[in-house]
Order: sequence, then C-alpha cells, then structure tokens
Amino acid sequence: MESVKPLVETVYGSQDLARHPFFLGNFINFGYWQGLDFEDGITSEHRIEASKALYEHVFNKIGITHSDTVLEIGSGHGAGSLLLAQTRNPREVLGLDFLQEQIDRANKLAAETLSAANVRFVQGSADATGLPSESCTKIISVEAAQHFPSIADFVKEAWRLLVPGGKLAVCTFFAESEEALELLQRHVPGLDMNLNPITPIQNLADEARKAGFRPVLTERIGKHVFEGFDNWVDQTAVQESWGHVWYRGYKLALIDYFTEVFQKPV
Ligand SMILES: C[S@@+](CC[C@H](N)C(=O)[O-])C[C@H]1O[C@@H](n2cnc3c(N)ncnc32)[C@H](O)[C@@H]1O
Repeated sequence: MESVKPLVETVYGSQDLARHPFFLGNFINFGYWQGLDFEDGITSEHRIEASKALYEHVFNKIGITHSDTVLEIGSGHGAGSLLLAQTRNPREVLGLDFLQEQIDRANKLAAETLSAANVRFVQGSADATGLPSESCTKIISVEAAQHFPSIADFVKEAWRLLVPGGKLAVCTFFAESEEALELLQRHVPGLDMNLNPITPIQNLADEARKAGFRPVLTERIGKHVFEGFDNWVDQTAVQESWGHVWYRGYKLALIDYFTEVFQKPV
C-alpha cells in the first residue's frame, strides 16, 4: 500500500493533475452536479461550479460555525480551503497536503485570490500530520482518501487531532464490497488501483468505530457526481479512457461516492 505515495508524487507533483482539462479552477475533484442545468452543454463556469458545489455539500453536511478551526486533509491547490474561508469564515482553516508542491501552489493561490489571515497551508500526511493533538474542531477530506495508504491510520490521526465533540467528514469514492474490488480489477481495468487503493466503504465505518467515533451521517452521492463528470469528460478535447472508468464502475454498482460524517464523543 505504501507504493501509492510515489504515484501521488508523480500525478499531483510533477504532472500537476489540476492542469488536466478534466479539472478547472484549481479544483481536482469530479464535482457535484445536482441542480446544475447543462442541457445545452457544460461551460467552464459549470465545471468550476460543480467542484465548488462538492465542497459546499461537505460544508453543509459537517456544519461550519465561526468558532471552528477546520483542517482539510488533501487540500490540493487549496481552492476548497480558500472557498471555506471566504464563504463560511471560520476562526481558522488549515489545508494540509502530502506534497510540498501542492502547498506552494496553495500559498500562491491564496496570495492571488484573497488576503486571508485565517487560512494556512502545511505539508503533512493523512496518517502523520505533525499537528498538535486536539487542535481542530472539524476535519474535512474531499476526494483524497482514495489515495491514503491506510484508512485505519488516517482515522486514528483524525481522532487524535479533534477536540471532544469535533467532527470528521470524508467525501470520496469507495468500493461497494471486497467482491466489488475484485470485479473492478476484472471489468474496469482502467481504474488504477495502485494510485487509488480504495477499500470497501464498510472499512471506513469499521475503522471509525474502532477509533471511538460515533457515526453521524452516511450519504451516497454517486448519482450527483459520476454522470455529470462523465458528460464533462465527453465534452473535453481529451476524451481519455481513464476519465470514463468512474462512471463505468458506478453503473456496474462496484463503486459509489460517499459522504460520511463522524463525531468524537464529548
Ligand atoms: C484529487 S486531489 C483533491 C484535492 C482537493 N481536495 C480538491 O478537491 O480540489 C487529492 C489530493 O490529496 C493529496 N494526497 C494524496 N495522498 C495524501 C496523503 N496520504 N496525505 C495527504 N494528502 C494526500 C494529493 O497530493 C492531492 O493534492
């Protein structure tokens, strides 16, 4: 599983996936397309709106207040952390990413887009952030956990970082089951399981419970994510096959996109 880290370094470091035409606006996620009218084609604005809407969905599900100190794990170019600071104005937002290149890009974006005294970006890993214990009230992670080498270690680290009563929101795709993982490899070979070492969704719930978390919310949002992204992939000049694997896996009922919220009891 540790073998994912060099792949993450290549894809998000030197290759800088955010520059791929599948992604826009410094976001690197598939987007949340519910309510977006793109009958006559998807514009660049729609594409960016969808990525923002995925974040807005997470902010709404975890609930952000002005007194929150929010950590985002896997913050990429920092667009989501900046959106959070701009639109919800919590006390502090800390974006953390595995790659120093992403932190540098996020700092550049922050300098260009707003003077946000309440946003900082730091390099660290989901399973070893280097941050002080009980230093956050909320933790969010948007389309990043599919790369984490160990969901168990990520969840344990989140537990350590949260104050009692604090919440963790994880939003990304998972496999439906162990059997689905095998079927994915057979029927959707383009879904690179080395870069995306996904686990069954049940694994997240189990590890969270073992760490001591209480489940607050679980929601399947694949229907609002995969089809819209697939339509966008169709529309781009580069209709690479990897762009289509996610919808294929979803239609075969092997993966879904989930929003899960957990709370550390008081
Ligand atoms: C698909 S991008 C999502 C970025 C951002 N959340 C967004 O929606 O625009 C995944 C990000 O997770 C980061 N990442 C991957 N593995 C990580 C790990 N173990 N710890 C922290 N960040 C990680 C990558 O460097 C990348 O920037």
